Amino acid sequence: MDTISDTKSVSSEDAVAPDVMPRTGRTYLSVLDLSPEALEACLTLAARLKRERHLGADAPTARALRGHSLALLFDKPSLRTRTGFEIAMRELGGNVTCPPSADALGTREPLADVARSLERWVSVAAIRTSEQMRLREFVEATTRLRIVNALTNEEHPCQALADCLTVRERWGAVRGRTLAYVGDGNNVAASLTHAAMMLGLNLRLASPKRFALPEATLTAARRVARHGATVVQLQDPVEAVRGADAVYADVWTSMGQEADQTRRRAAFQGYRVTSALMAEANDDAVFMHCLPAHRGEEVDADVLEGPRSVVFDQAENRLHTQKALLLMMLGGTDLC
Ligand code: CP
Repeated sequence: MDTISDTKSVSSEDAVAPDVMPRTGRTYLSVLDLSPEALEACLTLAARLKRERHLGADAPTARALRGHSLALLFDKPSLRTRTGFEIAMRELGGNVTCPPSADALGTREPLADVARSLERWVSVAAIRTSEQMRLREFVEATTRLRIVNALTNEEHPCQALADCLTVRERWGAVRGRTLAYVGDGNNVAASLTHAAMMLGLNLRLASPKRFALPEATLTAARRVARHGATVVQLQDPVEAVRGADAVYADVWTSMGQEADQTRRRAAFQGYRVTSALMAEANDDAVFMHCLPAHRGEEVDADVLEGPRSVVFDQAENRLHTQKALLLMMLGGTDLC
C-alpha cells in the first residue's frame, strides 16, 4: 500500500497554504494515512475552497478534476458523506457513478474483481462498508485506484476532517484546546482521536468501561501526537467535560449494532449531553455531533438546537473537506 509522503513542513497552524502541497498517498483509509503536514494542508485547502465556492463555475478549481470519475460504493445508509462526495466531485469538474451496492459490495463476485474492473474506469472509489479489511481487499487488488474510507466499523476519517475544520474556524487555532467526547468509543471517536493528536488538540473521552476506545487505537494516536497533545480515556462524563472547549456526542448504537440497542441504551445512561453537562464546559464551549442525532438519547434537543451547537457547520464542512481530499489525492492541487 502506498503511504503518504510530505514534501514540506507547514510551520504555522492555519491560514497560510504551503508553497508546495504535501502529497497524499493512494489511500485514505484512516487519518493515519496522512502526514500531519498533509492533514494541516487539507484543512487549509478546504477553508479556501469554502471561501471560493460562491464563484461557482469561475472558481479556480471548477475544472480541476476534469476527466476523473469517482465511484461511490455504499452498503450502508448515508446522507452527508454520499451527498458531500457527489457535489464535491461535480464542483471540481469530475464525474460520479453510484453502482448499486448489491452489485459492487454484495456476493455476486469477489471484491477483488469489482476493484479491478472499477480501476479501468474511475480514478477514485469512496467506500462505506462494515470491516476495514474489505477496503484493504480493494487496495491490494489494484495499483492505481485511489480508495477513500467513507466509514467502516473501525474508522470514519472523512468525518474527522470536517470536525477539525469546524473547530479551527471557531477558534482560529486548535493547539492547546481541549475537546471532550462523551459516549461510545466508536469509529468517529477513533478518527477524531487520530486527527486531534496530529493537530495538537487535547482529547478527553468518557465512555462506559466496556465501550471505551480500544487501547491499540489510543496507542496509535499517541504515536502521532504533536505539540504536546494528550488523550485520556475516562468513565466520568463530568470529569471529561469540565473546562473543555468543545463537547462531542455520537449515537449510542451505530449502524449494524441495532440488535444490541437495548443493552447499549442501558449502558449509556448517564452519558447524555444535557444542558447541565454543557454547563461544566467552558462558557464559550461548542457542542458537536456528526449526525444523524437521536434527540433525548445521546443529546438533549435543547443542546442540539441551542446557540452553542455547531453540528450543521460540521455537516457543511463535510463538502469542503472532501473536496480538498479529492484534489489532494488526484493531483488537482496543481490548479489551486
Ligand atoms: N456523519 C455522517 O457520516 O453522516 P452520514 O451517515 O449521513 O453520511
